[in-house]
Amino acid sequence: MPDFDASTTDRVLSPRLNSQAREDFAQAVRIGLSKRQRELPSMYLYDDLGTALFEAITLLPEYGLTRADERLLRRYARAILEHLPPGVMVAELGSGGGRKTRWLLDALAHREPVVYFPIDISAAALAKCRQELSGLGAVSLVGLETSYLEGLCDVTARRRPGQTLLVLFLGSTVGNFDRPAAEEFLREIRRCLSPGDALLLGTDLEKTVAEMVLAYDDPVGVTAAFNLNLLARINRELEGNFVLGQFRHEVRYHERERRIEMHLRSERTQTVSIRAADLTCTLHAGETMWTEACHKFHLGEIPAMAQRTGFVCQAQWVDGEWAFAENLWVADPAAATMP
Ligand code: AVJ
Repeated sequence: MPDFDASTTDRVLSPRLNSQAREDFAQAVRIGLSKRQRELPSMYLYDDLGTALFEAITLLPEYGLTRADERLLRRYARAILEHLPPGVMVAELGSGGGRKTRWLLDALAHREPVVYFPIDISAAALAKCRQELSGLGAVSLVGLETSYLEGLCDVTARRRPGQTLLVLFLGSTVGNFDRPAAEEFLREIRRCLSPGDALLLGTDLEKTVAEMVLAYDDPVGVTAAFNLNLLARINRELEGNFVLGQFRHEVRYHERERRIEMHLRSERTQTVSIRAADLTCTLHAGETMWTEACHKFHLGEIPAMAQRTGFVCQAQWVDGEWAFAENLWVADPAAATMP
């Protein structure tokens, strides 16, 4: 028998929220597809199927990012925690399945009891996270199915006096924002924090163009499926009529912006309608919809980013196999009254 429990409860408990979420999605699609370079916001890649496809991406030999992130957390968990005083609570923005976070929580749990707040827009990711971490005795988990900043706000409302908040923003998700928006977002995080709180930021570093492109254009086609699922999702949730066979996954490296871009290219001139977004648009042959940006970083630019956003970069750890860095930032008291 199918298991309806979680979704039925959600629907009963928050019918307005769900129709609001659908309306937000519809509006984001309407706005994105009306731009000259058509866009679809990357956060909508991560429905339950998209999240599962992303998990598959992390297993691809060509996509070393997640394994590098996990290696660093495994190897340096204790070194990272040495920078933090006793009494740490942990919040993670975009926890996904929680696999790599396990190492950090495990090390922390050897020191003190831990409360861990994974924040994710995918209910499936939170369920997986709970399952993955169920073996860790001294960790209690409170999952928040919401956006990053709303979730972080919730967490700070629950903090007890004297506790230090450690925010995890791993996997180079920060690279999805364009650079000014990333700094604005980091500043928003800083506004939620108190001096001495910390942010562990994972950043993918620049590699050769060939390596970077291959990481997002794997020969098996998992990333292509991940990308195309966005159109399938629009069809499912917003009554769209995209014919998936008429779009191709395309990956480019933008040298000046130092970012990978994922697009979906229309193979011919075609008209698409999306009923719930009240939208009909004609895509010309060769025209693309831009679905994701993945900015790459230099190790040396990260301390300056910290400083501009109200933090001090206390330490950086770099993987030896795949250029990726964990950066430990601490909320700067001098920036407490920042604009
Ligand atoms: C989850 C945003 C970090 O940018 O590398 C992987 C997403 N997209 N392959 C990334 C992604 C295509 C990934 N992040």
